[in-house]
Amino acid sequence: MKKMTLMNPGPVNVTDRVRDAQLRGDLCHREPEFLDLMLLIRKNLLQAFDIEKEYSAILITGSGTAALEMAVSSCLNPDRSILVIQNGVYGERIGKMADVYQMKKHTISYNWGEMPRLEEVEQALQKHSSIEVIAMVHHETTTGLLNPLPEIALLAKRYDKRLLVDCISSLGGDKINFGQYPIDFAVGTANKCLHGLPGVSFVFHRKKDLSRIKDLPARSIYFNLAEHLKAQEQGDTLFTPAIQAHYALDAALEELLEETVDGRIERYRKVAKDLRKGFKEIGFEFLIPESHQSNCLTALKLPNGISYDWLHDKLKENGFIIYAGQGLFSKEIFRIANMGNIESEKINLCLKVLKECFIKIGK
Ligand SMILES: Cc1ncc(COP(=O)(O)O)c(C=O)c1O
Repeated sequence: MKKMTLMNPGPVNVTDRVRDAQLRGDLCHREPEFLDLMLLIRKNLLQAFDIEKEYSAILITGSGTAALEMAVSSCLNPDRSILVIQNGVYGERIGKMADVYQMKKHTISYNWGEMPRLEEVEQALQKHSSIEVIAMVHHETTTGLLNPLPEIALLAKRYDKRLLVDCISSLGGDKINFGQYPIDFAVGTANKCLHGLPGVSFVFHRKKDLSRIKDLPARSIYFNLAEHLKAQEQGDTLFTPAIQAHYALDAALEELLEETVDGRIERYRKVAKDLRKGFKEIGFEFLIPESHQSNCLTALKLPNGISYDWLHDKLKENGFIIYAGQGLFSKEIFRIANMGNIESEKINLCLKVLKECFIKIGK
C-alpha cells in the first residue's frame, strides 16, 4: 500500500518504533508480562501529564468513544442530573450517551463553531440545583474550536460540580493545566496526539472523586469505570484487551516522555501556525476565527466550484489524506489536522498540492 500522510484527526501516522512494537510477540493477558505492561502504561500516562498524585488512569480496549462511554455512564448519581455543553458532533454525542443511559439531563446547545457563553453555563448551574456533573468537549473536532476549559472548570469548582471532559482530540496537542483547574474525568485515546495506534483508550479520574462513584449503581458491564479501576489497581484486567495496541501505546509513551507533553504541544502549535500561514497565502478562508482554533486541526471553507470529493482525491493522488466536514458542514468545509508523526517536509508539500488545486480551478 502507498505510504500516506494522514492529515485526518486520527488515526495518525506513527513512527517505526511504535509500529514495530506491535510485533513484540503473542501474549496472554492473564500473564504477569501483560499485567506489568498495563501498570507501566498507566504510570507513564500519569507521569507524562505530571498528575500521578491526584489521578488514576483507567484503560479500556476500544476507540476513544469507549473511554468516553465509560466515563459518562459511570459519573452520575441517579438522583442528580448532568449538564452537557454542546457545540459540535462530539458534544452532541455526550448528550446522546446521557439519553441512552436515561440520565436526567440539561443541555446548553450552540451552533457548531460557536463559543459557549460562560454566563449561560453559570445561569444553568444556578437554575438547576440537581446538576452534579458538567460535561463538555475540550477540542471540538467538528470545527477545530477549543472550548473555554479553564473558565468552565473554574465555574465547576465554584459551584462544587464534577467536571467530565472529552479531551480525545486535544490531550498532548493543546495545553490542559490539570494542576490549576480540576477535571474529574478527562477522556483520552491512544491514536491521536499521543501517537499510538487505535484500540486502547483511557480516562484520567480524580482520586478524590472515587468514594463518590464507587457505590453508584452500575449502568453497564463493559463500561463500568469503578470496576475497571478496581481490577487494574489489583494488577488485573476485566476483559480481553487489545494487546498489540497496548504494545504500541507503551512505545508511544516512551516517545512522549522523551519529547515531553509541553514539547509536543509546542511542536503542534508551530506546525499549525505554518500551515495556517500557508492556507491564508493560498486564499483559503477559516471556518472559525484564528483565536478560537486548537493546535491540532484547521477547518477551511470549500471555495466555490470545488467539491470535497475532488479535493480529497487530488490530495490522495499526491499522498495526503484530508478530512470531510460532518453533517451540515459536509458540503461547506474540509478539515486538515496536524496530529501524529508528520515529517516537516510533508507540511510544505501538502501546501504546494493545495495551491496547485486552487490554481487548477482558476481561483
Ligand atoms: C472530540 C472527539 N471525541 C470523540 C471522538 C471519537 O473517537 P473514536 O472515533 O476514537 O471513538 C473523536 C474522534 O475524532 C473526537 O475528535
